[in-house]
Amino acid sequence: MENKIKKTGMAQLIIDGKTYDLPILSGAVGPSAIDVRALYKDTDHFTFDTGFTSTCSTESQITYIDGDKGILLYRGYPIEQLAEHSTFLETAYLLMNGELPTATQSVEFSNTITNHTMLHEQIERFFNGFRRDAHPMAMLCGTVGGLSAFYHDSLDIEDNAQRDISMHRLIAKMPTIAARAYKYSIGQPTIYPDNSLSYSENFLKMCFAVPAEKYEVNPVIADAMDKIFILHADHEQNASTSTVRLAGSSGANPYACIAAGVACLWGPSHGGANEACLKMLNEIGTVDRIPEFVARAKDRNDPFRLMGFGHRVYKNYDPRAKVMQKTCHAVLGELGIKDSPILDIAMELEKIALNDPYFVEKKLYPNVDFYSGIVLSALGFPTSMFTVLFALARTSGWISQWNEMLEDSTQRIGRPRQLYTGATARDYVPIGKR
Ligand code: ACO
Repeated sequence: MENKIKKTGMAQLIIDGKTYDLPILSGAVGPSAIDVRALYKDTDHFTFDTGFTSTCSTESQITYIDGDKGILLYRGYPIEQLAEHSTFLETAYLLMNGELPTATQSVEFSNTITNHTMLHEQIERFFNGFRRDAHPMAMLCGTVGGLSAFYHDSLDIEDNAQRDISMHRLIAKMPTIAARAYKYSIGQPTIYPDNSLSYSENFLKMCFAVPAEKYEVNPVIADAMDKIFILHADHEQNASTSTVRLAGSSGANPYACIAAGVACLWGPSHGGANEACLKMLNEIGTVDRIPEFVARAKDRNDPFRLMGFGHRVYKNYDPRAKVMQKTCHAVLGELGIKDSPILDIAMELEKIALNDPYFVEKKLYPNVDFYSGIVLSALGFPTSMFTVLFALARTSGWISQWNEMLEDSTQRIGRPRQLYTGATARDYVPIGKR
């Protein structure tokens, strides 16, 4: 990566009457940053920023979010345009390479990914070791990490060609692993990849086909699946992406790094939110119970939160939520689901919350997960698979960010500091004297 940060000014920091000059750094767009890299060396002070709300951990040229305006760009292209006109594979190429592929590059990339869709047959044994009731995220996390035991020929992260192969393998094999985890959990046989199909068609087939019957892919459903993957492909330095980068900063292999990302994504505050949101909508059950749940969400003494609402970065409508809402209507229409009580509750809840002073003042808007659970459930996925699908899509962003980090000559191992408030030095007390 060619570093493009520019020094555009100076800030002054006064500590105990002594003034320190700190460079102000600017990127292409968005807030500038105060460079504190020399702060500890020069002042013997750290900065304190739990949750990293004011901290840039890296320079990046992949994804830009303007949370106040509700803008999301991949390599400069608005998410709405990509969702409308692009495909997931083209978007993955864009994230990895910085530019949309030409027609030739697109065919080549698609062929490369297609050629890597199969798993080493020994990985089947890996699955057989899991309990049948294992959560698919547990299987995904373990199996992705396990890939490093199978692909020794692409673990040298200093070698560009090997890095490329690993990235292609991860994009290609995630759907196969995800579908395998699903099939295993419901006791159905493995459906091998079908390389005559597109990325999303193949994934749907691996999930929903059975050997006893012919499976026809519904193009509207495949299109919706592809859009969902595009919407989830990358999102700047979120928790799981930062986890991938942090793991990678030590030189760990790409499969281990992506497994770390999968683990982080699993949490309900991150990728697990769509599962939690659908659960919440089912719990609400009827439109007349919405006020009760909204009141609970506003009650400081109640830990309940409206799932699918609020975002660390978006203080406006999440642009992905708009596309997802449209996709939701398209899928339900195609499947002939005229009455969806859950969708009715979601739309009414959105209306009420968007007009409630609590949500307005705190700038809490629906996020991408608000509608995605309804769509995924209509597509036939159980809730336990929702985060798996997110991980599948986000792999394209994770590996792009991982690769960008390795190409950045300023990259160092990530090592935050702390403000220690524990016991100060004391002498060991023998057990008989405690
Ligand atoms: N319902 C009710 N109140 C909320 C909600 C919510 N969903 N989200 C935030 N708030 C309130 C908080 O209680 C807090 O109020 P306070 O200032 O009075 O204490 C204020 O809004 C700010 O919330 P924080 O938790 O400090 O905001 P943060 O940026 O740390 O959290 C998060 C963002 C985790 C997404 C939060 O909004 C949340 O828990 N949402 C529900 C879970 C969810 O939908 N997660 C998906 C995120 S998108 C994704 O990962 C793809």
